[in-house]
Amino acid sequence: MSESDSGYPDGFFERGDPASDAIFYLPPRLVTHIDDAAINAVSELYAELGIDGSSGNRWRVLDLMSSWVSHLRAAPDELVVLGMNASELAANSMATERIVQDLNTDPVLPFADESFDAVLCCVSIDYLVRPVAVLRDAARVLRPEGLIVITFSNRCFPTKAIRGWLETDDEGRGAIVIDYLRRAGGFDEARLSLRTPASRGYRGDPLYAVTARAVTARAAAAGA
Ligand SMILES: C[S@@+](CC[C@H](N)C(=O)[O-])C[C@H]1O[C@@H](n2cnc3c(N)ncnc32)[C@H](O)[C@@H]1O
Repeated sequence: MSESDSGYPDGFFERGDPASDAIFYLPPRLVTHIDDAAINAVSELYAELGIDGSSGNRWRVLDLMSSWVSHLRAAPDELVVLGMNASELAANSMATERIVQDLNTDPVLPFADESFDAVLCCVSIDYLVRPVAVLRDAARVLRPEGLIVITFSNRCFPTKAIRGWLETDDEGRGAIVIDYLRRAGGFDEARLSLRTPASRGYRGDPLYAVTARAVTARAAAAGA
């Protein structure tokens, strides 16, 4: 565990399958991990936030822990996808750049400071054993006011998810993601929302989103 990911209870980041992620993610999985309504909720959120290409924004977007789909309705100007499986990333038709990197062995993102307008992470944050280090670097690569959007549901590969995630409920998972961002620093106050409320007729996979904006170096220093 790195210094920035310390401070959690013993065993919080342990996983049922402690073997290298390279083994688990070797076979390509050209599947979806949440139901259509939850995927639609992700796409709608990205559109609302101006992340997808239909917004007219000419954004450079990083999809962390990506696969063959990034759930954007229209391609942004540039979409960099980073994940574990080269074949999955090759099948991502919107991607303009593809990077295979195990964030659990190397949490440093191979990008320049302030080089992205938005960073996305969809239904995957639960697999990180050094999430604070990764999110600290996400803040570094975001331009001031750039967006981070972390979405999650209640499905996962249980042997690869961290114990702290498996041992809590949806509300607890929201609190975990917000806490990661707070510890990472470099973001304004994170907001949690349920994008698939029962009041709007959703009955399937829940889809939660945590969003925050990168703050300027001056604002970060003032808040320190
Ligand atoms: C449940 S899938 C989600 C894929 C995609 N984000 C989506 O919404 O369909 C989990 C993804 O996390 C990625 N992943 C898991 N462990 C990782 C790690 N240690 N470093 C980088 N990516 C990882 C895998 O490549 C896989 O594509």
